[in-house]
Amino acid sequence: MRSVSLQAQAKINLSLDILGKRADGYHEVRTVMVTVPLCDDVTVSLDGDDIKIIVDRPYIPADRRNIAWKAAEAFLHSVGSDNGVSIYIKKRIPVQAGMGGGSADGAAVLKGLNELMGGPLSTEELLSLAAGIGSDVPFCAVGGSALGTGRGEKLEYLPDIPKCSIVVVKPAFSVSTPELYSKIDSIALRYHPDTDGMLEAIRNNDLNGIAHRCFNVFEEALDTRNRNTVDEIKGTLLAGGALGAAMTGSGSAVFGLFSDDDLAQETAAELKNSFRSVFCMKN
Ligand code: C5P
Repeated sequence: MRSVSLQAQAKINLSLDILGKRADGYHEVRTVMVTVPLCDDVTVSLDGDDIKIIVDRPYIPADRRNIAWKAAEAFLHSVGSDNGVSIYIKKRIPVQAGMGGGSADGAAVLKGLNELMGGPLSTEELLSLAAGIGSDVPFCAVGGSALGTGRGEKLEYLPDIPKCSIVVVKPAFSVSTPELYSKIDSIALRYHPDTDGMLEAIRNNDLNGIAHRCFNVFEEALDTRNRNTVDEIKGTLLAGGALGAAMTGSGSAVFGLFSDDDLAQETAAELKNSFRSVFCMKN
């Protein structure tokens, strides 16, 4: 039985703006995303006559609610195959964090199956399949740095951001993405990120300019208690020397960008006193 193993990389949204609600119920977004060096391991094999998922965390659904399951089903359907698929997922990306963990697993399944079956789908076809599975799946399939528009699935690739240290904290609370989007519909957003300035800073390789423009409109839609937690984490990151900090995606993880790795590590150590899930990485 042949199998392939892939690394499914997490992402953060350096900035996230919501421009309005669309006729199809989704929201028009404008977001700058970058992959970060934190990954799940996904092993895919053509096996049996059904889709089977094993995840090393009991609280993660291993059925059709899992994006990896949807990806396998969509892939098999699109190439007209009645093969079975086994998927093994070793999780490292925190769940319900806004770091694209589920989307990255789904993207890895698409790429793994395409490889196992000898590449029946072109990159373009794979990305269009990915967009049908979830708004973040196309970005997760390609990675790097990109501006996402539309539902987040239309990608304009950008240069890599400068080398830096990234501290990520996943607080205990989780937020439902659809709920947060509908909360956005009921409030008038007061502030928006300077996305054009962010894009210019990325093109100029300007870490300060990038970090100062980290901003996520979803923070305003959090309830007071959760917002206070996010503000507390951001405060600690900035006081510790982060050049900028924001929540990623629909949360609840919060990141800070540091030019100084020692400060990043000290701040991560401090945050570990209050939060169980803290990561410090270099891009
Ligand atoms: O595309 P995905 O399945 O990740 O989206 C999950 C949910 O988030 C959607 O059902 C929708 O409620 C909301 N969403 C949205 N606008 C987007 C992306 C997601 O309203 N651009």
